Amino acid sequence: MSPADRTPLLTVRGLSKSFGDTRVLADADLDVARGEVLAVIGASGSGKTTLLRCLNGLEVADAGTVAVDDARVDFTTRPAPKALHALRDRSAMVFQQFQLFPHKTVLENVAEGPVVVQRRDKDEVRAEARALLERVGLADKADAYPHQLSGGQQQRVGIVRALALRPELLLFDEPTSALDPELVGEVLLLMRDLAREGWTMVVVTHELQFAREVASRVAFVDGGRVLESGPPAQVLGSPEHERTRQFIRRLSHPL
Ligand SMILES: Nc1ncnc2c1ncn2[C@@H]1O[C@H](COP(=O)(O)OP(=O)(O)OP(=O)(O)O)[C@@H](O)[C@H]1O
Ligand SMILES: [Mg+2]
Repeated sequence: MSPADRTPLLTVRGLSKSFGDTRVLADADLDVARGEVLAVIGASGSGKTTLLRCLNGLEVADAGTVAVDDARVDFTTRPAPKALHALRDRSAMVFQQFQLFPHKTVLENVAEGPVVVQRRDKDEVRAEARALLERVGLADKADAYPHQLSGGQQQRVGIVRALALRPELLLFDEPTSALDPELVGEVLLLMRDLAREGWTMVVVTHELQFAREVASRVAFVDGGRVLESGPPAQVLGSPEHERTRQFIRRLSHPL
């Protein structure tokens, strides 16, 4: 199925955001269809994290619109908290530094959001959390604390925690950047499995092999806007813009 045949899930138009005098997002546009995996690449400071944070209302943009399914927020005027909550409910974020609660067990970390924020039944949530942990090979870690796990295991818990929220859209912010190189694979393989299962994902990453093999499309962010996007072979193989070409060259040949 080509992207054109798919229904849109995420639509971003004219998204802008400044911190003080610094314009971090400048008229960014983005489209992600249901079941698509979008890899977002771009230099440090280009606005990738801010973009992700605006997609789920962790950050309030200054202008533009974000729509996930039927939750649509127009940032031209300050959005109502209810509208932001609706947007936030549609997605779940996986962070670079895992962001697990250090004093909660793995199971408690996974169950916290569904129980406290979504007010779902505690027993049902815990059963579902255990099943998800088993799925990613961490059933025996349910009662462990984050510091007792490797980085790769912690990030897999981070992913399970996102899945437990039953989101429509998974957002990943450099999920493997904080990992020792030998632990990167286990996290990327899990993400590849999720992609194959049909999850819709936006993945900020420097892992070009992942982008090439797993993503349906790649978007290059430069100076707070999406400079170009398209199939991986096109954007990574024969990019339209010189800036994209330079960035990919630097990433592929750091020396
Ligand atoms: N809360 C904030 N207050 C002030 N400036 C911020 C804030 N968050 C981000 N910025 C600035 O916005 C710019 C873009 O930051 P952002 O974190 O979105 O970039 P990034 O592309 O994710 O970078 P990296 O690849 O290093 O993670 C940077 O110049 C950063 O210093
Ligand atoms: Mg970032």
